[in-house]
Amino acid sequence: MEVVIRRTPEEVAATAAGIVADYVRSGPSVLGLATGSTPLATYADLIRRHRDEDLSFAQAVSFNLDEYVGLPAAHPESYRSVIRREFTSHVDLPDADVHGPDGNAEDVFAEAKRYEAAIDAAGGVDVQLLGIGTDGHIGFNEPGSSLASLTRIKTLTEQTREDNARFFESIDEVPIHVLTQGLGTISRARHLLLLATGAGKAEAVQAAVEGPVTAFCPASVLQLHPHVTVVVDDAAAGRLRLADYYRYVLANKPTGQGF
Ligand code: PGA
Repeated sequence: MEVVIRRTPEEVAATAAGIVADYVRSGPSVLGLATGSTPLATYADLIRRHRDEDLSFAQAVSFNLDEYVGLPAAHPESYRSVIRREFTSHVDLPDADVHGPDGNAEDVFAEAKRYEAAIDAAGGVDVQLLGIGTDGHIGFNEPGSSLASLTRIKTLTEQTREDNARFFESIDEVPIHVLTQGLGTISRARHLLLLATGAGKAEAVQAAVEGPVTAFCPASVLQLHPHVTVVVDDAAAGRLRLADYYRYVLANKPTGQGF
């Protein structure tokens, strides 16, 4: 696991966009996309690279991490809507290649299996963007999620519903259930790119990176993965015990070693 500490959220976004852009430039690529506030600046940076630097997503396909159950697909806060509005509609990634679990499927259990198979059929995810919840969730894998879990229906914690209420008129509108890639699903992506900014994430980041591997902090499953880049700003790094070492490692990165 490499922990990259940047000074500001803007620098976090530039680093993350650079990593994603390298995959996109290298040829056909499968991108794992996350919603939430944190990756928005990364998407804005990728859109700028598309506009100003000819970065083409024509050979990319994408898979969303998760989706609310029961919100109409056209609802502005459905994750299908969010990812199109904030990212894919501004670049040349064909809409038919932007995938997400269908939270309105008649049979959500069958839909979870279908989505898992669709990711496999696409060859698996090359680079997976991840945010982290204040309770340590990735995707919508709340504390207690099996570290080997696959795509399935989950029940949100009250904390997560409160955290996400800012996107809705009131907390009562935040769905209780979601479909989410599991921790096992996420772990099969070849490169995991976890982003966190702000002091509100410092505790969750510390637990994920330096705490025990435990279902109590779902993001700690990243410690078992061979290729993880955690990009955080100074505020989100505020509780890391080895922050000085991570900075030292970055300053002395071997020549030619990318992220
Ligand atoms: P945020 O959400 O980026 O809006 O903080 C992260 C998450 O809940 O995964």
